Amino acid sequence: MLMHIPEVLSPDELHRCRQIIVEAGWVDGNITAGSQAAKAKNNLQLPEDAPATRELQGIVLGALGRSALFFTSALPKQIFPPLFNCYTGSHNSFGNHVDNAIRTVTGTSHRVRSDLSFTLFFTEPNEYEGGELVIEDTFGAQRVKLPAGDMVLYPSSSVHRVEPVTRGARIACFTWLESMVRETECRRLLFDLDMSIMAVRERMGDDADAVRLTGCYHNLLRMWATP
Ligand code: NI
Repeated sequence: MLMHIPEVLSPDELHRCRQIIVEAGWVDGNITAGSQAAKAKNNLQLPEDAPATRELQGIVLGALGRSALFFTSALPKQIFPPLFNCYTGSHNSFGNHVDNAIRTVTGTSHRVRSDLSFTLFFTEPNEYEGGELVIEDTFGAQRVKLPAGDMVLYPSSSVHRVEPVTRGARIACFTWLESMVRETECRRLLFDLDMSIMAVRERMGDDADAVRLTGCYHNLLRMWATP
């Protein structure tokens, strides 16, 4: 399932992120690629230990913490510290690849299983040509290019790529997360149930059926989640 989450960043946060990015020092993106992905990867990235990266990570994680839609669709258990990339000039694409299943947080022995990947856009679609994130889904290839401040969540198991940027710069935040609910189908079912319960409660209030449905949601979560 692809999930578009609009306006994750507030206008002020987006403004601050863009200020930081303008002054930041970019390096070759292969520092975090696996050996197969490295062959396909041709972009720029902020070094993981740079002060700019730390400040951006704080802003992004704070924004994610506020997003109810992010929480209910991802049911995050742990998020790999977000990274930041730029596609521009001769560093302009990332060919088809699958993200590594296990990520070790740099400088630690802490591991994160990648169930979901996300991209949070910092530049507007009209600031660059190309640069679509293409995700091979069971419904075919999905081409994603979102407004600045919006994000897309997608299964880390999917084959995906970033099309060449032929004008301007595509700057984004990306990372991987481990979900409390490992199975995509279970997560999908919980998400649909949660959305329906909210709609029913809005229309009917907390009547006996709404309470029982809410109970079903929590009991399924209890069954499937590894918090
Ligand atoms: Ni990837």
